[in-house]
Amino acid sequence: MTGEPASSSTSAPLIDPFGRSIEYLRVSVTDRCDFRCVYCMSEHMTFLPKHDLLTLEELDRLCSAFVRRGVRKLRITGGEPLVRKNIIWLFNQLGRHLQTGTLDELTLTTNGSQLVKHARDLKAAGVERINLSIDTLVPEKFKAITRWGDLSNVLRGMDAAQDAGLKVKINAVALKGFNEDEIVDLIHFAHGRGADLTLIETMPLGEIEEDRTDQYLPLSVVRARLMDTFTLEDSAHRTGGPARYVTIKETGGRLGFITPLTHNFCESCNRVRLTCTGTLYMCLGQDDAADLRKPLRDSAEDDLIDAAVTEAISRKPKGHDFVIDRRSQKPAVARHMSVTGG
Ligand code: 5AD
Ligand code: SF4
Repeated sequence: MTGEPASSSTSAPLIDPFGRSIEYLRVSVTDRCDFRCVYCMSEHMTFLPKHDLLTLEELDRLCSAFVRRGVRKLRITGGEPLVRKNIIWLFNQLGRHLQTGTLDELTLTTNGSQLVKHARDLKAAGVERINLSIDTLVPEKFKAITRWGDLSNVLRGMDAAQDAGLKVKINAVALKGFNEDEIVDLIHFAHGRGADLTLIETMPLGEIEEDRTDQYLPLSVVRARLMDTFTLEDSAHRTGGPARYVTIKETGGRLGFITPLTHNFCESCNRVRLTCTGTLYMCLGQDDAADLRKPLRDSAEDDLIDAAVTEAISRKPKGHDFVIDRRSQKPAVARHMSVTGG
């Protein structure tokens, strides 16, 4: 005996009540963003006061506790993760789990605005792939949808990422009357540059100015239309996320569909989401959450965090109840996507 108090931290794996093993943690490191995409944020957002945020050290400690419990994939999101000050420090810290082999993948979702500056550092930290959001290739439309974004800067960011050796996947939210006529162009653009493309249906998260029923474009419709132009071949490819892929015969590239509304992807859900204030959401489509900030701050040991995480996972719901319909004017979930980063 050394007289040291034994740490009661555990490495018990995280299995939810439906037998799903939780191996994927998405971490929103800031709710702020330098864009104001119309389907994501309202023009005048109230952001969290800076002192409510977990420090980068605290985020590292929480993420590392999840890695010890069997999380194999970390995705850093926002808001826009790269607008958080000193964020590369966190990537470098988390990168050590890649080196020890306890983590398979460290990745991020970004709007690309800061990639020129950070692409090389991300690669050096161990990031191999990034998700880059681009909903349109027409500069004026890009300005309109992001309110504040500049397409040419984002495209320079994409170049910087690819030059640094990062594999890029493009995410585009499919929006009725906005980019439905551009899907073929987006496919040619992405695949022409060696990037996969994933289309996302709008999800009813948070109050926005627009009417979501006007934005909603079912991907079943997009897919049927694409068959006039392309040969789609079902693909077994999986990235650990909810996308289902096809290979496009004519381009040789992959096209993913994320269809939370037309198709239920909950059965295979392996993920939970942590916000920048230490709140753990067990499902994107439910308001139920667990506070990890208090157990984090109440003890220098991880035992309280472990107990809180175990309890939270025991409450992971079977699935979401997203509906976009004209009768219910309220979003299914009150918080914006920028809280949990999708
Ligand atoms: N529905 C669907 N996708 C959304 N995104 C942001 N808000 C929504 C929403 N309400 C997308 C972003 C980004 C990804 C993280 O989620 O465009 O590609
Ligand atoms: Fe920012 Fe992404 Fe939301 Fe657009 S969708 S406002 S880029 S967080």
